[in-house]
Amino acid sequence: MSFHISPASRLEVVKEYYFSTKLKQIAALKASGIPVLNLGIGSPDLAPSDATIQALVESAQKKENHAYQAYQGIPALRTAFANFYQKHYQVNLDPNGEILPLIGSKEGIMHIAMAYLEKGDITLIPNPGYPTYQAACALTGAEVQSYELTEANGWLPDLVELAKRDLSRVKIMWVNYPHMPTGAQANVAFFEKLRDFALTHSILLVNDNPYSFILNQHPNSMLSIPGMKEVAIELNSLSKSHNMAGWRIGAVLGQQKFLAPILTFKSNMDSGMFLPLQEAAVKALESNEVWFAQQNKIYAARQKVVFQLMDLLECSYDPNQSGMFVWAKVPSKYKDGYELSDKILDENAVFITPGGIFGSQGNAYIRISLCAPISLFETAIQRIKTQSNGI
Ligand SMILES: Cc1ncc(COP(=O)(O)O)c(C=O)c1O
Repeated sequence: MSFHISPASRLEVVKEYYFSTKLKQIAALKASGIPVLNLGIGSPDLAPSDATIQALVESAQKKENHAYQAYQGIPALRTAFANFYQKHYQVNLDPNGEILPLIGSKEGIMHIAMAYLEKGDITLIPNPGYPTYQAACALTGAEVQSYELTEANGWLPDLVELAKRDLSRVKIMWVNYPHMPTGAQANVAFFEKLRDFALTHSILLVNDNPYSFILNQHPNSMLSIPGMKEVAIELNSLSKSHNMAGWRIGAVLGQQKFLAPILTFKSNMDSGMFLPLQEAAVKALESNEVWFAQQNKIYAARQKVVFQLMDLLECSYDPNQSGMFVWAKVPSKYKDGYELSDKILDENAVFITPGGIFGSQGNAYIRISLCAPISLFETAIQRIKTQSNGI
């Protein structure tokens, strides 16, 4: 008899992350000699600022900088986040209590879910939306209900429709504006309605805000809405805005009473970030408008070429979308985005993310990441033009 240990049944509610399996498939294709172009993943290919890297190097060279760090991050990092929120979003936050640095906002989603949700609770997640909301919340034993977003409604939740549900057990509603994967933005009027909805139904809002600086004319924090801090916390991250995805630096921000349970959980699960990362993050957070303008110039040029690629695929899209992706609707001759994605991978060795991985409301869509040089998109266009069995 072979030795067998069964995994915990709680894992039955999640599958291996889509990109974890897809990247293995792409690596296998590449190993077999097929030069796959990966237009799928939102991992910035650009570098952090020189000042950030220099700060990392200088700090790492100091022998005394390699010890464990405080669970709440160094005061300088919390102050840097506070200054960043004040300067860019006009939000006042107390560095002593209203800012908790995180090893990326992805881990923060799990920490928040574990700190607040349990069996018997309901949590609301966007469909389409970032898949980690579903996975993290389902692992807590809570019931995960999606709220449908539609193109017709500007990818905003229909709060009137949502209020018709029994919301008595709903504890947390996850929102994410600017929205991934659709690139939709929410305006102040919507956030005000959302605040009132949360107050009426006693729901804690969690806004996941990693994309506010990418191709967005008006970077905003939901916490800037008057009264929002009463009912909401926000996640932010240096992964996309500062090209630091591999560094794993983010923060959860909001009233101390909301952050305290998150720290209780987090401090039992991980430890403070490596000090040189924190010191370098302080430098990154000091980046000014010139830095963001430089990044956006590059993303805007890439977006233009990706729009051409979408035109070639006969997909339709909103030219004003934010974030580091282009989200587009596939023509009706395809069953869904999966069919088009499979066809392009098979015929042209180009990987494009099918929108359905973000939820059923994304089925008719595909998503292309802007995290690649223009030459890669041009090569993809050439391949599709010359090697397809009919688009
Ligand atoms: C909407 C959204 N939230 C959170 C994350 C995770 O970001 P981080 O690198 O901060 O964990 C991502 C990454 O793709 C994302 O798209």
